[in-house]
Amino acid sequence: MITREEINQLIDRYNVKKLTVGTIGSHSALNIFKGAKEEGFRTVCICKEKDLLVYKKFPLVDEFIIVSDFTEILNEKVQESLRRLNTVIVPHGSFTAYLSTEQLTDSFYVPMFGNRQLLHWEASREKQEEWLRKAGLKLPRTFANPEEISGLAIAKLPGAKGGRGYFLANSAESFKRKVKEMMHRGLLSKEDAEKIHLQEYVLGVNVYPHYFSSIIDDDVEFFGVDKRYESTVDAIGRVPANEQIEVGITPTYTIVGNIPLTLRESLLPELLKMGDNVQKTAKELAPPGIIGPFCLETVITDSLEIYTFEISARIVAGTNVGIGTAPYAYLKYGENMYTGRRIALEIKKALKNGRIREVVA
Ligand SMILES: Nc1ncnc2c1ncn2[C@@H]1O[C@H](COP(=O)(O)OP(=O)(O)O)[C@@H](O)[C@H]1O
Ligand SMILES: [Mg+2]
Repeated sequence: MITREEINQLIDRYNVKKLTVGTIGSHSALNIFKGAKEEGFRTVCICKEKDLLVYKKFPLVDEFIIVSDFTEILNEKVQESLRRLNTVIVPHGSFTAYLSTEQLTDSFYVPMFGNRQLLHWEASREKQEEWLRKAGLKLPRTFANPEEISGLAIAKLPGAKGGRGYFLANSAESFKRKVKEMMHRGLLSKEDAEKIHLQEYVLGVNVYPHYFSSIIDDDVEFFGVDKRYESTVDAIGRVPANEQIEVGITPTYTIVGNIPLTLRESLLPELLKMGDNVQKTAKELAPPGIIGPFCLETVITDSLEIYTFEISARIVAGTNVGIGTAPYAYLKYGENMYTGRRIALEIKKALKNGRIREVVA
């Protein structure tokens, strides 16, 4: 495990006047790069050849490091290039999708914006649950085995796969039948089938609030909200029920994009409290808690109960709906504030106050 002390030593050797903001070219990279440019930083993109088009089309990247696979960020040569550029890496969803938590916490000797220790709390569903429950949030029930299923259940696969291969079942029998069907369709491997997590399916609408935990200002800010556009579940309503049954459609949850949302104002007190409590608990679990953006994944029922089923302690792709101006960030900052920019602003404030060590790990 790379210690804070080791990261501090790296930062001490940096020319902080020439700090570069870096990330992997995918997920929310454009959001992060735009924010960094607007706050006056140089940027570096670790990019695959096939994606260069994206990061050249928009003039946001000063330096490219081309890799054929994102795991190459662990190569000594790549790490050395990043350190030479005085890079602070801003992690997003692709980091944990392509690299293991251990690889990031043990082998990546480049300062990262955020709290590396929390990665372990985020990586396992059990630890996430413990964290969220400690924070007093309402969670959907977990079914220990298929026989326990009562009502509708959602079957989840390990790791954030963007909901690919998830399915619903309402009994042990329907569960077993669907496992077979999903395997047959190539959406589920035998190995993953054994690791399925069964959870109560909460009937309601998806709401994903975005927060920003500022260590420098000692506050949890509220930025915006999105909902997700998922294939095929969002397509089901376009096929009449009769045909659905005839064809035997099983919805999946592959994320395709995000849609901006604003909320009934009466939901804000609870959502704001939830954000504060999640950070308060995080501070106890791994001081100083969350550094920077985080997102809760919730379902809100028709009695306006908010169930949280997941947390991301980093920027989420849903914040891309706010590039330019995030609606709730506008209420605090006025125009032109969004998660990517807020990250860069936090780094800038930390530098100005001689507190850069407190926002990287
Ligand atoms: N307990 C639940 N009740 C209702 N819908 C859920 C529940 N858990 C997840 N979902 C839905 O399933 C999809 C993907 O779930 P999620 O756990 O976020 O996947 P991932 O791990 O890929 O991020 C989302 O549309 C989400 O709203
Ligand atoms: Mg999720």
